Amino acid sequence: MAKTRTAYFCQSCGHESAKWLGKCPSCSQWNTFVEEIIEKGNVSIPDWKNGSTSTQRSNKPAAIHDIIYSEENRLITPDNELNRVLGGGIVSGSMVLIGGEPGIGKSTLMLQVALNLPGLKVLYISGEESEQQIKMRAERLVKVPDKESSNVPGVADTYILTETSTQNIFKQIEILEPDLVVVDSIQTLYSAHIESTPGSVSQVRECTAELLRFAKESGTPVFLIGHITKDGMIAGPKILEHMVDTVLQFEGDRHHVYRILRAVKNRFGSASELGIYEMLGSGLREVSNPSEILLSQRDEPLSGITISVILEGLRPMLIETQALVSVSAYGTPQRSGTGFDTKRMNMLLAVLEKKCGFKLSTQDVFLNIAGGLRVEDPAIDLAVVVAIISSHEDMPVDSKVCFAAEVGLSGEIRAVNRIEQRIAEAEKLGFEKIFISKYNLPAGKKVQDGQNWKKYKIEINTVAKV
Ligand code: TYD
Ligand code: MG
Repeated sequence: MAKTRTAYFCQSCGHESAKWLGKCPSCSQWNTFVEEIIEKGNVSIPDWKNGSTSTQRSNKPAAIHDIIYSEENRLITPDNELNRVLGGGIVSGSMVLIGGEPGIGKSTLMLQVALNLPGLKVLYISGEESEQQIKMRAERLVKVPDKESSNVPGVADTYILTETSTQNIFKQIEILEPDLVVVDSIQTLYSAHIESTPGSVSQVRECTAELLRFAKESGTPVFLIGHITKDGMIAGPKILEHMVDTVLQFEGDRHHVYRILRAVKNRFGSASELGIYEMLGSGLREVSNPSEILLSQRDEPLSGITISVILEGLRPMLIETQALVSVSAYGTPQRSGTGFDTKRMNMLLAVLEKKCGFKLSTQDVFLNIAGGLRVEDPAIDLAVVVAIISSHEDMPVDSKVCFAAEVGLSGEIRAVNRIEQRIAEAEKLGFEKIFISKYNLPAGKKVQDGQNWKKYKIEINTVAKV
């Protein structure tokens, strides 16, 4: 009988070592190594179909022009936000990992997708909830009386399997032949080829590898739900993220109703797309016009509030920036930004201090981006600067005015990309004035004589310096 092999794994990043280490050489965390049994005797290469040993099949090289593929191999779901984040639908044979905090709505999202795919057999594998619990949830999501629910197309071909052994799962998959597989969650699965407990690094890695082999060989897309650790990383080895094709993060404040689905990695599309949902009593609703929710309703103008047009992926949206500047009670003023990089905020404050003469070094500055979004688009800079001055001087900015420009280190207002798209979005939402960089105009043109700009009703103002 072959000897059982053990190794030590870092529970934080998945680094493997032959002996125990105090500090992980890969992620520098202390005391994270745990011994795991990685091979049970006499098992060689595990195969998803046969469950035990297999003769390894080898592929032959193919000339690139002989390889046939078609763009249509995407499965378009009724959920437009999910399609967008995935880059235009689910690619067949792809593996998607969805991570997010507990209770954020990962199971709800995937069950909702499963129930709304008419004509496609979906297998929803759950290691976390019982069949009854899932049925209860499904009933909230599709408002149909019990008896009639079997006639609703998407509901009729959704199958629930409560199982955690991958070998048993593959047996059921072979019988059912589903078109889509959802695994809730990867941390609950275990493979008989590995002896450590479910959720451990080697188990998660092995189960993912088996499912990946199944996805690639059968062309069936697989969705994995993954837990995240307290610092926001997907639990399990880091290589989990390298193994799958797409990594999505489902985030949002549990106390707010809005949820954001964000692509972190995507082999089949842009990784900067966002999907926005609203959590209702009857499941998740797609928010197709995010600007509506990101702008607060207010009647009277308030100081410290500005609006900017940012791009998330290819989608323009208007977002509100709030700033509060007040005299610091302590020697070191506080600087804090929610949804905005604090380093960048400090840089903008320095520009204001040096170039415009505002005495901000004795002031506390707080910045908040509405809606729980984290903005990386530099086009928000001008709005941030104006919000800070507006709060400092206690002068409100007209709520029909918006901004889209980057601020440089020497106080210059820099051009941003896709300006026309931004202007069009601002106009669509009823804004009367937009401030952009002078350098966004074709060289030597004024706004009035620029051909492309005449079509806008919105007043376009250009600035060159703060
Ligand atoms: P869930 O999908 O179980 O989260 P996860 O799988 O990420 O842990 O989401 C649970 C939360 O969603 C729970 O707080 C209740 C809420 N919820 C709704 O508000 N409306 C609904 O229709 C459903 C099904 C859940
Ligand atoms: Mg869940």
